[in-house]
Parts: sequence; structure tokens; C-alpha cells
Amino acid sequence: MTDRRFSESFTWGVATSSYQIEGATNADGRGESIWDRFSADADNIEDQSTGEVACDHYNLWSRDLQIMSELGVNAYRFSVAWPRILPTGRGATEQRGLDFYSRLVDGLLDLNITPFVTLYHWDLPQILQDRGGWTARETAEAFVEYADIVSRHLGDRVKHWITHNEPWCISVLGHQTGEHAPGHKNTSEALATSHHLLLSHGWSVPVIRQNTTDAEVGIVLNLVPSEPASPSEADAKACREFEGAFNRWFLDPLYDRGYPEDIIALHHRNGDLESVELPFVQEGDLDAITAPTDFLGINYYSRAVLRSTEIPEQDNAERTVFTAPESEHTDMGWEVYPKGIQDLLEQVHRDYQPSKIYITENGCAYATGPDDNGAIQDDLRVDYFRGHLSACLDAIENGVPLVGYFAWSLLDNFEWAFGYTKRFGLVWVDYQTQERTPKASALWYKNVIANRSIPTP
Ligand code: GCO
Repeated sequence: MTDRRFSESFTWGVATSSYQIEGATNADGRGESIWDRFSADADNIEDQSTGEVACDHYNLWSRDLQIMSELGVNAYRFSVAWPRILPTGRGATEQRGLDFYSRLVDGLLDLNITPFVTLYHWDLPQILQDRGGWTARETAEAFVEYADIVSRHLGDRVKHWITHNEPWCISVLGHQTGEHAPGHKNTSEALATSHHLLLSHGWSVPVIRQNTTDAEVGIVLNLVPSEPASPSEADAKACREFEGAFNRWFLDPLYDRGYPEDIIALHHRNGDLESVELPFVQEGDLDAITAPTDFLGINYYSRAVLRSTEIPEQDNAERTVFTAPESEHTDMGWEVYPKGIQDLLEQVHRDYQPSKIYITENGCAYATGPDDNGAIQDDLRVDYFRGHLSACLDAIENGVPLVGYFAWSLLDNFEWAFGYTKRFGLVWVDYQTQERTPKASALWYKNVIANRSIPTP
């Protein structure tokens, strides 16, 4: 053991999301979601799978709560499936859907595990998609109604609320590259989507507060610390543009700076915007988006090293590339770069000053499965967590108000377009039997939580 410790009040959690673990997509009146529709098309998912069964958490939830309790976590971040609550998107609520989350919350509180509820982790009711989905302003209005219903129902017991998970993924992967539901490929749509997500966030913050005494409300962004591949001006420009579209596009409006002008201009040059006016922004929107929050949730997986594509390949090839060639990469192909989480935390703290930060996701995909004795020795995952948690401690020591950490994920689960081919869990899931087996990393994490410090290898 080292003597560096996390504070006694530090939040230790694990994170999941509804579509990735629940299964039971037809149970108790649940409506269709855009991920049911998207994954039904075999071309969209690497192993042609869907979330129809997933980890069957909808039925096995109390077993999963026991696993969390054994891990010793004091918090659990999960998401509510909108189509379970409002099968037709707006209007009639489905009591059985509300009851499921109510039981889950009670079960957590019985085990002294604090629920952190994400309202939107990507499973939009398909019926709202049919009316334009997030490209339509109406969906932002519908989200506020949904947030109102859920927070009215759970607000007596749930004090930690997250409006959206990763608006970048919803906008860009869902509407620009088409890798995620609804699978569209149109950058103008992606831009409108990002605005309606932020707007619905801002509109719902006061509603959630009204329904919850002592609420802490925030949003979760996936942010990528970025650096140029060389000292050239071309790479510096590529880096500014990447970082602007990925991070600043969301952070700036949330923290009262409006949308970044350089990125608006870039979209205009690329033909995604007719002018440098954003056609979807109405009067009062930018104010609404800055509704004060209590924390920022950051999901961190890796960094980006940017090379300009504007320079001929042969000239580019000769320039320095900073990505260390010996870097470890996970099964997602993502570089393992623990220093990135510290750099990112310090940068966000310096530039935006959120009063509190949680790492709401951090983790890695490795396929390591049971050995002959049935044990799962996922040493690479342990290394990943060790490196990143230790970098979090460095950030805290440098003054960052990081108050909690959620490992992604409790269970192996449905990894979106990758189906079940990527395993992020601390706990192995046998999808044939639904048996759960904690991996070595789960036992390691348990030890870290119990001691509030990181054991030396
Ligand atoms: C996301 C989501 C998670 C993913 C995880 C690994 O960040 O994309 O929040 O649902 O499963 O990030 O890719």
C-alpha cells in the first residue's frame, strides 16, 4: 500500500446503462426504443446481436445489487429507459416501468448504495424518432416532461441526477457517422441534435430540482484531451478543430460562453451551416442551457493525437508522432493513457471551474475469460484502473475538486455497435447461462475501495 489516500467522503461507484444490461425489451408495457429498431438491422451490429436479452438485469437486478454490495461500492450510476416510462414518448405513463426503478432504488438504499440516475443514455422512444427525434425541438420538450415524471416519482429517494450521457455520441455517432441509432449521416442534423440535447438539459434542471429536495444535478460529457502529433502549425490547427468540436462545443455553452465561433465557422466552411447563424438556436436558449448545475460528470477512456490531413502524406510521415509506439491498446483499439485523465481534469478545472467533478465512466475492453479453474485473471484491466486511479489522485493533489469515480462497467454488456464482442465488465457475464463471475479486477477494486488507496503492484 502507498500512503496516498482518497478522502473518506469519496464516492466509489460502478456504472451501467439501461439498454446495455436490462434486456426484457417487451416486458411490462415497454415501448420500442431507437436501439431496438437500429439493432434489428443486422448490418448495424458487429455480431448481429441486440439488447433483447443482454444481461437480463431487468429480472436479475437483485442479484446484481448483491454483487455491488460485495464490491463495497457506495454509489451506482444507472439509467432509466424512457420507453419503459412513456411507451408512446409523451402522454400516458406506464406504472410498471416506474415501479421497476422504484424497487431498484429501494434495493440500493437498503444496501447503503447511493443511486445516481441518468435520465437519457440513448434509448429514445422510437415513436419520437419517427417525429424527427433529437433533430426536432419537440423532443426537447418531451424530455422535460419525462424528466418531470421520473424525478417526481423517485425524487424523494434519488438525490443525484444526470440529464444526458455523452451528447457528443448522440449527435455525432447517431447523426453524423451513423454508427449509432438512429444511424443518420448528416452533420447539420448532428448540430441540431447537440443543441436540442443541451436545451433539454437546461430546461429540465430546474424541474428536477423542484421535484427533489437537496438535489444534485449535472450532465455527463465524454471528453478527449487532445494534442498535436507534431509542433507544426498544421497539426496544431487540426488539434484545435478536433478539440473544439469534441469538447468545447459542449462545455462552452454549458459554462456560459455560447457555441465556439471557430467551430461554427468551420461548419460553415464545410457546408454544414448555410451561414454563421445557428438556425436551431432561438431567443433564450443559450440562457436556458447555462442553468446552474452541481457537478460535471466526465467520461474518460483515452486521448487523441491529431495530425493534419491537409498536408501531403509523404511530408506528414516525416514529422514527429508523439503517440508512444509501445503504448498498450485495449480491445477497442483505444490507447491506454492514464496521464490523459489527469491532464483532462486539470484542464476542465482550470478553464471551466465546475464546483465538483465526478469521473462518471472510466474503463477498458479486454476479452480475458475464465481459465481452467474458472478464475478470470484480467491483469490488463487491473493495470488500467491502477494507472487511471493514481492519475486521479495526482489531479486531486493538484487541486481538482474530483469527488467520485465510477468504473465502467459493473457487468460485461451490450457494447452498442460492437454487440457482445467487447467486454468492459468488472464482472464476467456468461450470456448462455446469465451466470456472473467477478474478475480479478473486481476483487482489486474492492480492495482499493476498502483501503481508499491504490496497492503497489
Ligand atoms: C459510452 C457509453 C457507454 C459505453 C462505454 C464504452 O461512453 O459510450 O456511456 O455506454 O459502453 O463508454 O464504450
